[in-house]
Amino acid sequence: MTNLSRAKLAAAALSVSLIACILVFAPSPTSIAFAELVPEPTPTPEAAFDQEAAIAKIRESIKGRENEPAGKVFKNVENLSEMPAGRLLAVMQFGYSRSLGVDCTHCHSAENFASEAKPQKQIARDMHVMMGKITGEMLGKMESLGGRQAIVNCTTCHRGQIKPATNLQPN
Ligand code: HEC
Ligand code: HEC
Repeated sequence: MTNLSRAKLAAAALSVSLIACILVFAPSPTSIAFAELVPEPTPTPEAAFDQEAAIAKIRESIKGRENEPAGKVFKNVENLSEMPAGRLLAVMQFGYSRSLGVDCTHCHSAENFASEAKPQKQIARDMHVMMGKITGEMLGKMESLGGRQAIVNCTTCHRGQIKPATNLQPN
């Protein structure tokens, strides 16, 4: 072996051990706080909103049609279109708003509930689909549960918070 190739070998060995050192001493992915990886949720923007009055107004506007499918009574309903219109309002109030600890304006423009302007509305639709998949395609087929009726809903994860916890420290 020539001196030159020895020098090359030594240089290569040195760089390999340097890389190994960096890999060993670099922080492992689990030591990075999860919070740093997840963007902050958007707070509810419209503070002076009277939720009871808004619900009463919508109830008045659909009077006599409460048992018709929500898809017929309202304008932009996709997932919940088969649900009676009156029940959709209860889902909005107790399922969606209370589960996340927000009022209607987190997902809706107070002047126009059919509007798609707020991104949270579409997120909520996608969450509904996810929830159905976890319940139906995963929990429902989990043999080890022995046919127990296991479900997840918005409250399972959100527990009154916009952003579900990923650890037991206060958010
Ligand atoms: C977490 C988000 C979220 C919150 C909070 C929420 N909604 Fe909704 N709302 C939705 C989504 C999503 C739809 C559409 C459902 C679908 O496509 O199946 C919807 C649809 C509606 C509609 C039908 C509008 C139309 O004409 O298409 C009404 C009315 C409504 N919500 C009322 C309310 C009221 C009243 C509240 C507060 C008590 C509320 N919502 C809170 C997400 C939300
Ligand atoms: C399996 C757990 C899980 C379930 C069930 C779930 N969510 Fe979520 N949701 C999340 C996570 C995780 C996020 C992202 C939070 C973040 O920004 O870090 C989120 C975010 C959201 C957001 C965006 C909040 C914001 O403004 O930043 C909305 C709206 C939402 N969920 C609505 C719902 C609704 C409505 C349901 C029930 C139909 C639901 N979620 C069910 C886990 C869940």
